[in-house]
Amino acid sequence: LDLRAEIDRLRMERNAVILAHYYQRPEIQDLADFVGDSLELSRKAAATDADVIAFCGVKFMADTAKILSPQKIVVLPDMDAGCSLEDSCPPDKFKAFREAHPDHIALTYINCSTEVKALSDVIVTSSSAETILAQIPPEQKIIFGPDRHLGGYLNRKFGRDMLLWPGVCIVHEAFSETELLKLKAQHPDAPIAAHPECPPHIVDHADYVGSTSGILQYAKTMTGDTLIVATEPHIIHQMQLAMPDKTFIGAPGADGNCNCNICPYMALNTMEKLYLALRDLQPRIEMDEDLRLAAKKSLDRMLDMAS
Ligand code: MLT
Repeated sequence: LDLRAEIDRLRMERNAVILAHYYQRPEIQDLADFVGDSLELSRKAAATDADVIAFCGVKFMADTAKILSPQKIVVLPDMDAGCSLEDSCPPDKFKAFREAHPDHIALTYINCSTEVKALSDVIVTSSSAETILAQIPPEQKIIFGPDRHLGGYLNRKFGRDMLLWPGVCIVHEAFSETELLKLKAQHPDAPIAAHPECPPHIVDHADYVGSTSGILQYAKTMTGDTLIVATEPHIIHQMQLAMPDKTFIGAPGADGNCNCNICPYMALNTMEKLYLALRDLQPRIEMDEDLRLAAKKSLDRMLDMAS
């Protein structure tokens, strides 16, 4: 079976759009109709006139597509493609946290469940968080979840004291400062670009801190020819496509290479599973309508405030 040809045939037959996150395998990025970060993919999902969205990313991203485009069939090649941040934040515990701080608003990272979105006031992504936080008056008290490193980074940058939910991303948590400094010693002129989900001991060494789309943009404008990249290494595929003459090195984990920083959830999506998802229109995202409408409010606020 020629999987690529079959996927192309089914994409036409189903009037499907294939959306892929930058953290997907290169072969999936290469066949996608659109590759982007959570904010860009949310916008595409809201605007598409396709009948089917095949979402190559993790479950909360496919859920977001369904929240924004309820009339469409949304398939996720592997329903087990979860997220450690979403898992760290069970809705009942988040609800109790909110209730314990009734004078705070909840600014919540998109890496969370639909239930947690429904309990939140404004959603942010890593590429919209700074723009959105800048619009919230300094005296407004805020709880921020589930990523404590992104929240801590924003607190330091904006001089805020948002209360932080204690979640982390297992991928960004795995970078090693010792190995990063060894790598930097080998490439003293190469800047380091880091995602704000990284802990402070990594972010503090970075010349640029931002989302995947931000890092991609930084790579396009930097003057040097080598960049050390501290986020999930599959983003490097887009950098190499856009800048074949430059060198991009994935920041290392404790074993000295970047393979331990591959997201195990993102990696669950394969060409085979994408083909089956388009053929069978399964696994499909289903959602309670009241829950969807409640979650949509905080997402719509993000889309308004981010633009
Ligand atoms: C997202 O927004 O998709 C994730 O935080 C990763 C990123 O693109 O920065």
